Amino acid sequence: MKPRVLVTRKVYPAALAILQEDCVVDYHDAYEVLSPERLQRKLQHAHGVVCQLTDRLDAAALAAAPNLRAIAQIAVGYDNIDVAAATARRIAVTNTPGVLTEATADLTFALLLATARRLPAAERFLHSGAWQRWDIDLWCGADVHGRTLGLVGFGRIGQAVARRAQGFGMRVLYSSRNRAEPALEAELRAQHVPLDLLLAQSDFVSVHVPGGAATRHLIGVEQVCRMKRTAFLINTARGSVVDEAALIAALEEGLLAGAGLDVFEQEPQVPEALRRLPNVVLLPHIGSAVTSVRSLMCALAARDCAAVLRGERPQHLVNPEVFA
Ligand code: DGY
Repeated sequence: MKPRVLVTRKVYPAALAILQEDCVVDYHDAYEVLSPERLQRKLQHAHGVVCQLTDRLDAAALAAAPNLRAIAQIAVGYDNIDVAAATARRIAVTNTPGVLTEATADLTFALLLATARRLPAAERFLHSGAWQRWDIDLWCGADVHGRTLGLVGFGRIGQAVARRAQGFGMRVLYSSRNRAEPALEAELRAQHVPLDLLLAQSDFVSVHVPGGAATRHLIGVEQVCRMKRTAFLINTARGSVVDEAALIAALEEGLLAGAGLDVFEQEPQVPEALRRLPNVVLLPHIGSAVTSVRSLMCALAARDCAAVLRGERPQHLVNPEVFA
């Protein structure tokens, strides 16, 4: 009997073609996110699930899925999945790193530039018909070239951002639990420093750590207060890493120059107080939103899900313990 795979939301067709080779696919062909009750009902008969960061695969969902052997997340981040509960049940959890690194680094840099140079506001100004003449201080912003970039987290995406920063002649600092190899530090001209020093010295602080309990509010009141008043905070990682209330208060009080955010604590809700601020650029979680990249992410998740269900080791396993 072929295994059953639940695909929780609309995906690129490549994923379906891969899954249909070996599995019976229960495809929820809609953008709508399944309610916890519907998700649990659908999981009852599933051997695998191909899911997205909008789906909560928590202990209750897993308890409703007695036959589940694979959870394949179409994203690199997986803080919506209770990995410990999955591991305890020997359910393999997979993700899609690698294919989205460059796209996310591109978006990070675009957001950094847009925030520093106030591009969205300047564009809105022109579109509104308000542009009368060239003025000496019209839409002046902050310098990027030659400034200091602080990377909080130095995994694949942080490193790809460091590579781009070289082209802008930036000094690059990074903080991370593990120090990179000297050869990599030299190649990226990146200096490992404690987080407090990074916050105090950077003109741009860009967040690149995974979400989850271990990094929740890593950037909180204390950290925001250590930053320069002229500095910008950029977050394309996970909303939970930054204490949004503390950031809003700091921006309102002029303790920071601005922020560029692609991720939020309660997506898709973005606090009104944040949306009202003139010195923020806000995007709807589009870090990896490039058609070819999203299609590859879907295919990768489908391939890994099918591999687990064939009893093979998937390419990107989050919890290797289950294959030990
Ligand atoms: C991820 O992969 O975790 C991004 O947030 C969505 O691509």
